[in-house]
Amino acid sequence: MKVLVLNGSPKAERSDTLHIARAFCDGMKSAADVEVKEIHVIKKRIEYCTGCFVCKKNGGTCVIRDDMAEILDEIKSSDVIIYSFPLYSYGMPAPLKNVIDRLMPLSSWAMVREENGKYGHTMHKGLDSLRYVMLCGCGFPNSKHNFEAAVRQFELKFPRNRTIITVPESPMFNIPQADELTKPRLELIKQAGAQYAANGEIEAELMQAVTSPMLPDQIYAQFANNF
Ligand SMILES: Cc1cc2nc3c(=O)[nH]c(=O)nc-3n(C[C@H](O)[C@H](O)[C@H](O)COP(=O)(O)O)c2cc1C
Repeated sequence: MKVLVLNGSPKAERSDTLHIARAFCDGMKSAADVEVKEIHVIKKRIEYCTGCFVCKKNGGTCVIRDDMAEILDEIKSSDVIIYSFPLYSYGMPAPLKNVIDRLMPLSSWAMVREENGKYGHTMHKGLDSLRYVMLCGCGFPNSKHNFEAAVRQFELKFPRNRTIITVPESPMFNIPQADELTKPRLELIKQAGAQYAANGEIEAELMQAVTSPMLPDQIYAQFANNF
């Protein structure tokens, strides 16, 4: 199974969230024959989509010559795409949103109505079976009133074959003094990766454990404010 990690953190290798993605991938590797490729989006030159729709008329080639062509090729040859990113202003960081907009060449002009009334473009042949994982960390301790917009955007953009994991308090993953709390959490995330690779899904109880705060919110806030 080929897994592509698109690291959307502008901090590249120093990303807090990347700890989550790497633990998840380690878990996947422990359960299946998995090959992982990581791309740090911030290091790529990716222009904005200009909305010309030429890619929809020419069978899927973007007119902009930049590093997005490489990312699209990687996506087309992968089985699972992991979008790893920190929550920025209740959404995804702008460089990653730019990548998402530039996915246009992967789908056709045709608009199709789904059962629930939602419309979307049909994916080009062979791309329907792609699976998507969103791994999102954030700085606040609360998930409610925080992750909703990012989760909804991902659900709408990737209506099928997707798994969403949100982890609050993620700056702790880069603080060695918090190892006592983060190491057990990374172990759980590894278990989640193993389950996902083996069964294509994560049990509700494990998901709950993975996505809960590592410290009670007010203690975390006090700790963060003193840090
Ligand atoms: C511009 C900006 C916006 C942010 N917006 C939010 C937010 O809406 N909610 C939140 O909980 N944390 C927010 N954060 C905190 C980051 O999500 C948090 O620091 C995260 O751990 C960074 O992950 P990374 O190291 O993978 O980039 C924001 C940080 C920045 C720099």
